[in-house]
Amino acid sequence: MAERRDVVIIGAGAAGMMCAIEAGRRGRRVLVVDHARAPGEKIRISGGGRCNFTNIHAGPKNFLSANPHFCKSALARYTPRDFLDLVERHRIPWHEKTLGQLFCDNSAKDIIAMLLAEMNAADAELRLSTPIGAIEHDGRAFRVVTDAGTVEASSLVIATGGKSIPKMGATAFAYRIAEQFGLAVTETRAGLVPLTLDPATLAAHEGLPGVAVDVIARHGKTEFREAALFTHRGLSGPAILQISSYWREGEEIALTLCPDVDFAAVVAAARRENGRQAMQTVLAEHMPKKLAQLLVAELGIDGPLAEQPGRRIDALLQRLRDWRLRPPGSEGYRTAEVTLGGVDTAALDSRSMAAKAVPGLYFIGEAVDVTGWLGGYNFQWAWASGHAAGGYA
Ligand code: FDA
Repeated sequence: MAERRDVVIIGAGAAGMMCAIEAGRRGRRVLVVDHARAPGEKIRISGGGRCNFTNIHAGPKNFLSANPHFCKSALARYTPRDFLDLVERHRIPWHEKTLGQLFCDNSAKDIIAMLLAEMNAADAELRLSTPIGAIEHDGRAFRVVTDAGTVEASSLVIATGGKSIPKMGATAFAYRIAEQFGLAVTETRAGLVPLTLDPATLAAHEGLPGVAVDVIARHGKTEFREAALFTHRGLSGPAILQISSYWREGEEIALTLCPDVDFAAVVAAARRENGRQAMQTVLAEHMPKKLAQLLVAELGIDGPLAEQPGRRIDALLQRLRDWRLRPPGSEGYRTAEVTLGGVDTAALDSRSMAAKAVPGLYFIGEAVDVTGWLGGYNFQWAWASGHAAGGYA
């Protein structure tokens, strides 16, 4: 005999827990099932353990999707302020770090505890360590077959996230279920991910790993102004993670180093005032010394500033303004913070997240083809889409 519930939610991550709270508040009998041993594992490790739980500036412009309009309805109906009100009601101390990014003062575990308390108050049941077998549908109810028996429900919400960090239990489950029910899935790829560099470039960058510098990172017309970090395998840091979501394998990215510094004026003044000094000494006043050394070495700049031919200085200024790099690849899902692409939004209703062609079936969170920038946007999408589905499921 199958157990009966009104709503079964698969995935006890950010989106699934928010959906359970909302559906439970409406009086629906909710069961959340997850194969992991603990709920909200990605919340726990997020934001360096302090969870960047939202961004006060979050809006549709901060998301990538084949249909940039799809996310508008859910984001407008559950805003960063709404989530912050919840955080404040639970007296969780928080702070704004930078660029509207809100973090817990203490621990990401405060957010998980808050969501569990809200689920409890809404009478939503949580079942962990429960692998899912088949999902069956007879046109009326869904039957979810688990190791611990079969559960039947009129609404089924898929909240199993994307493919990033498989060692934490990420699976392609949502895409498989979408395909089972005839819903399209857009191409998926790793997003918010460090980029790798080829061995020759890495050899030339010897000594740079660990060096961070303020940049504008560009790809086409998209640009982000934040820090970039040189690593043993390539490039990371917020500016690189942001631009990685727009970049595709083999394409170029461009960096403007230290965008606040007018290097043409700096070099001209240095030549006038003390032409005997070395170029790297001038650059090192504005950037890490190791990076200054690399730039002058790569362009063959040696000897006193006053003796440098104009074309070399022009080449250096060009490099500082527009350093072109062609990363051959990325670190992939192993370290990516998100998965780009996912369940095609054309198959879903933007108010409820319901599959248009399969009444009672919902997809929320990262599983859907809506991906946020770095900075609290992905959790805001998880809360907003979970809240939207919870109002209907
Ligand atoms: P999420 O991945 O959170 O949850 C999915 C759940 O489904 C998991 O509990 C999983 O165990 C379960 N599941 C998966 N497959 C299953 C299966 N086959 N059967 C049963 N259960 C299954 N975002 C942000 O806004 N601010 C931040 O600070 C960070 N920081 C961050 C750090 C790191 C290291 C990563 C990897 C990611 C972030 N993110 C982030 C992104 C954010 O964590 C992510 O977008 C959300 O957690 C997505 O929420 P979901 O609920 O959709 O999926």
